Order: sequence, then C-alpha cells, then structure tokens
Amino acid sequence: MENQEEWPELKAQIDKLRLPKHIAIIMDGNGRWAQQHGMARVFGHQSGVKSVREVTEAAAEIGIKFLTLYAFSTENWNRPDEEVTALMTLLVKTIQAELPTLNKNNIRLQSIGDLTTLPDATRLELFDAIDKTKENSRMTLILALSYSAKWEIVEAIKNISRKVTAGSLIIDDITDELVSSELATRDIPDPELLIRTGGETRISNFLLWQIAYAELSFSKIFWPDYRKKDLYESIIDFQQRQRRFGKTGEQVAEI
Ligand code: IPE
Ligand code: IPE
Ligand code: MG
Repeated sequence: MENQEEWPELKAQIDKLRLPKHIAIIMDGNGRWAQQHGMARVFGHQSGVKSVREVTEAAAEIGIKFLTLYAFSTENWNRPDEEVTALMTLLVKTIQAELPTLNKNNIRLQSIGDLTTLPDATRLELFDAIDKTKENSRMTLILALSYSAKWEIVEAIKNISRKVTAGSLIIDDITDELVSSELATRDIPDPELLIRTGGETRISNFLLWQIAYAELSFSKIFWPDYRKKDLYESIIDFQQRQRRFGKTGEQVAEI
C-alpha cells in the first residue's frame, strides 16, 4: 500500500449535515506539472490517475453522493494526435484497473458526453464498467468524456424541438425543470461546488446550465499534486460561505 495521508483533523472540521450532494471538478494542470518535472505531457496525465483515486475515495468516505470529473472535453480532440491517443489508452487502462476498487467501495460509474466519438476500445471498456457497477449505491462517479456544455445544451434544444414538432409537447410547458430533464445530467442534482485545479479561472465549456448557482473554488495546485487534504479544505471553505440565492444575508440567516 502506498502511504496515503488521511488528515483526520481536517476531516473532523467538515460538517456532515451540510455536505454538498454533488461536487464537480475540472482536473487541470497535468501538462504544466509534467513540464515542471521535465517530462512529457503524457506523464502528467498518468500521474493524475493517483489524484483521481484519492479524490474519489475521499469523496465517498465523507458521504458525497455525486462526483463529476471533467476528464476530456470536446475541445481536447484538437490536441496533438499522440496526446489524444495516449489519453484514450490511459482511460481504458485506468477503468480496467479501477473496476475492482469501484465495486469494493460500492461506487457506481456513469459518464456524460458525446460517447459515440470515443474510440471503440475506450467506449466498450467504459460501458462494461458502467454496467458492472450499476447496482452500487454509496456514490456515483461521473466521468465527463468528450463533453462540452454547449453540445449538451444544443442536444437538449434539438430534442425539445422534436417533441414540439411532433405535437407531444407545447411551448408553454418548456420550463427550467424540463430543460434539465433533457440534459445528460437528467438524473443527477446540480453541483453545489465546482472546483478547478491548475490555476486557471475559467469554466472551459463545463456544465454551464448546471452550475448556475454553484460555488466556485479555484486551486493553484496542478491536478497530479491534488490530494485528499485539498478536497477537504475546499469543502470546509464551501461550508463557510453564505449561499443567498438572490435573497439578502439577513433573510438567509433567519432560517
Ligand atoms: C488537464 O490537464 C487534463 C486534460 C485536459 C485532459 P492539461 O493537459 O490541460 O494540463 P495543462 O493545462 O496543459 O497544464
Ligand atoms: C478543461 O481543461 C478540460 C479538462 C480538464 C478535461 P483544458 O486544459 O482543456 O481547458 P483550457 O483549454 O485551458 O480552457
Ligand atoms: Mg489545461
């Protein structure tokens, strides 16, 4: 077993009654981490797998119900071929290697994105793991793969338009909830906390609809260095914020 620090004092500061149900993470900084270590970018992606493992375990342990990890965006297809191929191969290997742990930890795997564009080997491995973990109930781990929020919203608009054209839906029945139900995340609550590692303060086409009221947390740490401790700190910070949803601070404090 690799030595993994558990940070009990930090963990104890987390209020179990006010946990976010859903945390979404933009795992960024692999390439710069590799560069810093004088290695090829691919080495950064490989090293990021350990962070995925730690963060998944930490989230499940403290009682988070949904964890979404942005692993590959639609725009990432524009990277050099060798990096794309290496990432797709890494995905197959990682899913294969982690499947027993997901089952042991009672974690269900799901995926959002345009999965039809994935290479066959990656897609088959992914669907196999989704199927083999579908009864697990402790936490749902959602991999965003070949994902873009604009793509997802366009798909939803097309589906809604088809229903209107077919006469099974009237325009006045299009509500916030109906739009949500047409997104890839239809069975998943909106994330209350969105974390981006790697120092950039942008969203990069991730969950645009779903993060309408999410708390944003930007970390300078490159993803391969991100550990349980960093997730705990982000959750503690989240719990210290006042979420007002348009009301005044006084109104919220009264409840
Ligand atoms: C995030 O790290 C992983 C993916 C986008 C697949 P990057 O590869 O974007 O790392 P930087 O931003 O170049 O450091
Ligand atoms: C966002 O990171 C996508 C993932 C983490 C998978 P990028 O590194 O691709 O984002 P930009 O290009 O810097 O905005
Ligand atoms: Mg990046």
